[in-house]
Amino acid sequence: MNTPPLTALDIVLRDAQIIVSCGSGGVGKTTAAAAIALHAAALGKRVVVVTIDPARRLADALGLSDGLSNEPTRVEIRDEPDTPGELWAMMLDPATTFDGLVHQYAETPEQAERILANGFYHNIAGALSGTQEYMAAEKLYQLHRDDRFDLVVVDTPPTRNALDFLDAPATLTRFINHRLFRLLMLPARKGLKVLNVAAQPVLRTIGKVVGGEVLTDAIAFFQAFEGMEIGFRDRADAVSDLLHSPITHYVLVASPRHDTVDEARYFAGRLAASDLAVAAVVVNRLQPRFGDATAEEAREASVLAEASGRADLAALWRNLAELRALADAEEAVIAPLVADTGATAIHRVPLLSDDVHDLGGLRQIADHLFRV
Ligand SMILES: Nc1ncnc2c1ncn2[C@@H]1O[C@H](COP(=O)(O)OP(=O)(O)O)[C@@H](O)[C@H]1O
Ligand SMILES: [Mg+2]
Repeated sequence: MNTPPLTALDIVLRDAQIIVSCGSGGVGKTTAAAAIALHAAALGKRVVVVTIDPARRLADALGLSDGLSNEPTRVEIRDEPDTPGELWAMMLDPATTFDGLVHQYAETPEQAERILANGFYHNIAGALSGTQEYMAAEKLYQLHRDDRFDLVVVDTPPTRNALDFLDAPATLTRFINHRLFRLLMLPARKGLKVLNVAAQPVLRTIGKVVGGEVLTDAIAFFQAFEGMEIGFRDRADAVSDLLHSPITHYVLVASPRHDTVDEARYFAGRLAASDLAVAAVVVNRLQPRFGDATAEEAREASVLAEASGRADLAALWRNLAELRALADAEEAVIAPLVADTGATAIHRVPLLSDDVHDLGGLRQIADHLFRV
């Protein structure tokens, strides 16, 4: 017997140690990420699925009513008790992740405490643009290196900027290498007083803009940071390498609507701009197809049934003709995406009769993704 050829998602599962699920909001990114993770666990892998989506969808889909935290929680896969696989889930908390990095790279616990207590740190840890994206990438790196897991599946937030984390490590490196950052680090190196530093023209200007107190906090922060910047920079480089390595695979999720297809093509372009490829595409929420008849054949069959006095049968055929016409229209909507990524990358998942809010629902989605 011939074994069927591997699908794009089969290859992802065979080769990937990190899978990133991306696409616009509401298409089923979180659902797809959880279903892929569940299937990989059923195949025997130890999988952790991470969401950066604050909407708690992942917890809901996994039936975890208590929600998720920044540490992986084991999910009981009740109907697959015999597999060696494990499923874990977590939700990214950027601030806690940043605190963890500070602890890791501080030379002493006192240095870490000084940074964590600093007002400027609190502001950048939460608000600096790119921090959240960088922490997502950082968490990915940590989980990838965690011996407990063979595979990390990441669900991205429902925004156009979802792939900003690809650039985040480089942005952090640029920041650390920046002249201003070096200038701010200077006083700690030279042992100068903060007052002298504040007299420097560039700092006087910043002080006028952001206020003296913020500036004092900022200078104290950079002084406290002394010695850690190399660790941070090396780490950012390693994270960036991981995101661009062949063990990281990107899965695009879309639904049969013009706007989500356009978004998916935008994401594919965004990946290509970073020299990354789309490994597989999930087109979710399609009209289910029944039987092999085309819309035209079904319409003809309904006319024939009508003519032979079978009104009930005619109604069924008419119904089928309508559904098939709808499915054909959806195919036309996704055609540009299929043309961009190639037909073999595409995985079709029908719209289920119900929302996916438990393992049973995820299993159904996984069955469509992996044709088991
Ligand atoms: N194939 C499907 N059939 C039915 N409901 C689905 C399907 N895929 C996803 N859903 C539901 O659609 C909603 C959005 O899915 P979700 O995975 O949260 O999207 P995203 O993460 O892209 O915003 C959820 O309520 C989910 O249960
Ligand atoms: Mg989501």
